[in-house]
Amino acid sequence: MIEHVPPYKVEPMQWGDVPQVMAIERTAFTLPWSDYTYRHELLENRNAHYLVARRLNGGVLSKSTWLTRLLKIEQKAPVVGYGGFWIVLDEAHISTIASDEQWRGRGIGELMLLAMIERSIELGAGEVTLEVRVTNRVAQSLYRKYGFEVVGQRPGYYRDNNEDADLMTVFKVDRPEYQAKLKALRAALEDRLRREVTRLPSPETSRSV
Ligand SMILES: CC(C)(COP(=O)(O)OP(=O)(O)OC[C@H]1O[C@@H](n2cnc3c(N)ncnc32)[C@H](O)[C@@H]1OP(=O)(O)O)[C@@H](O)C(=O)NCCC(=O)NCCS
Repeated sequence: MIEHVPPYKVEPMQWGDVPQVMAIERTAFTLPWSDYTYRHELLENRNAHYLVARRLNGGVLSKSTWLTRLLKIEQKAPVVGYGGFWIVLDEAHISTIASDEQWRGRGIGELMLLAMIERSIELGAGEVTLEVRVTNRVAQSLYRKYGFEVVGQRPGYYRDNNEDADLMTVFKVDRPEYQAKLKALRAALEDRLRREVTRLPSPETSRSV
C-alpha cells in the first residue's frame, strides 16, 4: 500500500524508519515506546500494521532518472507522521498515532487516522477502537470527527500519572453511510493538504499531550 496525497506519501513503516519515528515518539508521548517495541511490532507481530507519512520535497516527488531507476535508488522523504493498529478478529485497535510537532495542525494526524481506518476496512475490520487520555482534547476531537464515540473507560490506564483512558470506538465502518462520510472527509482533507504544499514547518512548537 503506497498512497500519494500531495504533498505526502503514506506507506508501510519499515525498520529503517524507526529512528525518525522514535524522534517524533519522544516528543509526542510522555511514555514513549522503545525501538525494541517497534522492532517487535514490525518484525514479529503478524496482526500489526504500521504506516508512515512522508513529506515530499515541495509537494512532489522529484522525477526519477534512468540512473536512479537503473540503480533502484528510492527517494526517502522525511517521516512527519505515523500510526499503527492491530487487527484482532473483526476489530482494528489503533495502538499509536502521532505527527511531528513542527507539522501539527496541518492535517497529518488526520491523514494517518484516515489511512488506518481505510486500511482496516480493506483488511476486513467492522469496527475501529482506541484508548485516549481523558485530557487529550486534540486527539479526542480528531477521533470524534471520524465518528468515534466514548464507549467506556479504563481507570488508571496511563502509568506516568495514573490518568484514565477513554475507550473510543467507531462501529460498522463498512456501512454505506460511513463509507460516504469517509469519502467526503477524504476529499476535504486532500483539498486542505494541497493548499498546505508551500507552507514551511512552524518555528515554534507546542505539545498537545
Ligand atoms: C493528535 C495528533 C496526532 C493530531 O495531529 P495533527 O497533525 O496536529 O492534527 P490535524 O492537523 O490532522 O487535525 C485533525 C483534527 O485534530 C483536531 N485538532 C488538531 N489540532 C487541534 C487543536 N489545536 N485543538 C483542538 N483540536 C485539534 C481537530 O479535530 C482537527 O480537525 P479540524 O482541522 O477539522 O479541526 C497530534 O496532536 C499528536 O501527535 N499528538 C501527540 C500524540 C498523541 O496525543 N497521539 C494520540 C494518542 S491517543
